[in-house]
Amino acid sequence: MTQQLLHGKLAKYYDRLYSYRDYLDEAIRIQNLIIKYSPKEPTSILDVACGTGLHLKHLKDDFQCTGVDISKDMLKIARKNAKGITFKQVDMKKLKLKKKFDVITCLLSSIGYSNTLGNLNKTIKNFYNHLTKEGIVLIEPSHAKSFYVSGKPNITIYDGNDAKITRINISKTKPTTTQLTMHIVVAEKGKEAKYFVDNHKLGLFGIKDTLKTMRNAGFKSKFLANGLMTGRELLVGIKR
Ligand SMILES: C[S@@+](CC[C@H](N)C(=O)[O-])C[C@H]1O[C@@H](n2cnc3c(N)ncnc32)[C@H](O)[C@@H]1O
Repeated sequence: MTQQLLHGKLAKYYDRLYSYRDYLDEAIRIQNLIIKYSPKEPTSILDVACGTGLHLKHLKDDFQCTGVDISKDMLKIARKNAKGITFKQVDMKKLKLKKKFDVITCLLSSIGYSNTLGNLNKTIKNFYNHLTKEGIVLIEPSHAKSFYVSGKPNITIYDGNDAKITRINISKTKPTTTQLTMHIVVAEKGKEAKYFVDNHKLGLFGIKDTLKTMRNAGFKSKFLANGLMTGRELLVGIKR
């Protein structure tokens, strides 16, 4: 189902490439925002495009947690990272679960994988339909210009004893999409170094468009410039 190498055949390197992130700190900030914006006391969370499950790992003691992702390889790792949580392989554009949740999260640039404004509409409507009354959604938008500057390379390095991994990202940005090429080199101890080229197509949805889409779906929505303090913004929607 997934076409991205980093979320597929290279998923086992994902957590090492993102080891500079502090998922515990992000989870605490998520919880504080939930407390601040939720009109009721929430008990359940659905993390959409949950990846390797590291946010849920830190939220599972306080909430009933469920994670969905399109990639079975990411979910395989999530099941090891966050034991006891239900994980399902689902495309967010076609989200259809038999349960509703008090909180839905969709973090990092994951919402961008809905690609088109039409699919963003469907996805946000799906979020709305999977929330209980007064439930809230937290979305990190994918438009962040600082992350997708056309032609400006970004580098991430993992420098462990077990392996050295580098990833150079280069975006070719159009007004509403970006073609993100990842050049990934993996050198594991005792093995030949391997080089991969991984192409990701993401929709770049402006804040205004995303807020409008959220309002059209029925949410009362808010824009938080500093979000989870990771350099990304955050959109909060409250189901009316
Ligand atoms: C950049 S990762 C973010 C993972 C996680 N939320 C985090 O913060 O580490 C993007 C995730 O979106 C997932 N994804 C891509 N397209 C998707 C879709 N249509 N439906 C659900 N998940 C999707 C990928 O498999 C990947 O795990």
